Amino acid sequence: MTSRRVVLTRTAAVIGAASTGLLLPEIVRAQSNRVRVGFMLPYTGTFAQLGVAIENGFRMALDEKGGKLGGREVDFFKVDDESNPAKGVENAQRLVQRDRVDVLIGTVHSGVQMGIHRVARETGVLNLIPNAGVHAATRAQCAPNVFRTSFTNSQPTLALGKPMVDRGHKRAVWITWNYAAGDEAFEGFEQSYTEAGGTIIRKLGLPFPNVEFQALLTEIASLRPDAVACFFAGAGAAKFLRDYAAAGLNRTIQLYGSGFLTEGVLDAAGDAANGVLTTMHYSDSLDTPRNKQFRLEYAKAFRMQPDVYAVQGYDTGLLLIQGAQAVNGDLSNKQALYDALRGATIDSPRGKWTMSKSHNPIQDMYLREVVGRENKVIGIARKAVEDPGTGCRMA
Ligand code: PHB
Repeated sequence: MTSRRVVLTRTAAVIGAASTGLLLPEIVRAQSNRVRVGFMLPYTGTFAQLGVAIENGFRMALDEKGGKLGGREVDFFKVDDESNPAKGVENAQRLVQRDRVDVLIGTVHSGVQMGIHRVARETGVLNLIPNAGVHAATRAQCAPNVFRTSFTNSQPTLALGKPMVDRGHKRAVWITWNYAAGDEAFEGFEQSYTEAGGTIIRKLGLPFPNVEFQALLTEIASLRPDAVACFFAGAGAAKFLRDYAAAGLNRTIQLYGSGFLTEGVLDAAGDAANGVLTTMHYSDSLDTPRNKQFRLEYAKAFRMQPDVYAVQGYDTGLLLIQGAQAVNGDLSNKQALYDALRGATIDSPRGKWTMSKSHNPIQDMYLREVVGRENKVIGIARKAVEDPGTGCRMA
């Protein structure tokens, strides 16, 4: 229905243009000469600000190159995926079939990603994943046309176990949202924490995007662990930090997390986040010219501080720019395009990274501590973390 309406509308536009004497072939050529970039991101719900940061970062990378890809102008198309997995396939199809995008940038939520993934595999459209860490996308279901610029869900937590045990925190409670991202973050945590000699005394969870933490916090208080480790993100993470502190737990039980817990939420969390320790492939305070320049430029352009999501969006832009340049803007030259994306080195604000064979970043993980309104880097928790890409066979 939608596509028929669009076709009719186009026909009407054609007739209208012809009758006003416009040179239609010229218009058509000009349009097909433009690259069509589709954003499928959350613009509402608990991850809304993550979607905005990713789009901002992506646009900033392109703006630095005069707004072009391989010499071609760019048209943008947007769909709000609401972090709703039930609409994942339908929303991706809207961009691919209705808007005929050359590249689909998306998304944040792992469940929604699997909808995009189905459409990417069925249609062959180029998909760049600027956040969602779902393992399958670059493991058993990896695909030649799917590249991730962010992380796999277990990458940050693979770096978390050792610093916890090093600090004498050997009995921990794990808490998260029960969905792919939380489950897979747990896999990394379980591996690194038990390898380091820690014991997980309880696993707690609640459905995404539920933020009724009270009963679970009461349970944590009665369990008296040395530490709590978690995966939360976005507005839900800010609420968790505030509730954890309001329950008084921040004074007695050290809180750890994969770094999403403290990304983009430090203003909303206020003092509640102070002292929280996390592992992540980025830190605000990385003292490199590249990061400082990025932060300055982003703050100037968008009147807000960048976070890891902005960096991932920016890197997605850098990757696509490299690919488009390699094929002189001809994105239909897929083999050459994918070769360029696979072989890219990204000079990112997070530090330089390269693509693994299964199309996921090989990157350092930093240990950070929240000090005031900043994620302060303490050091590298684990160097060159590469997802194993288990089961990936590129067709
Ligand atoms: C995910 O669903 O994969 C996800 C969402 C938000 C994050 C990280 C991972 O911050």
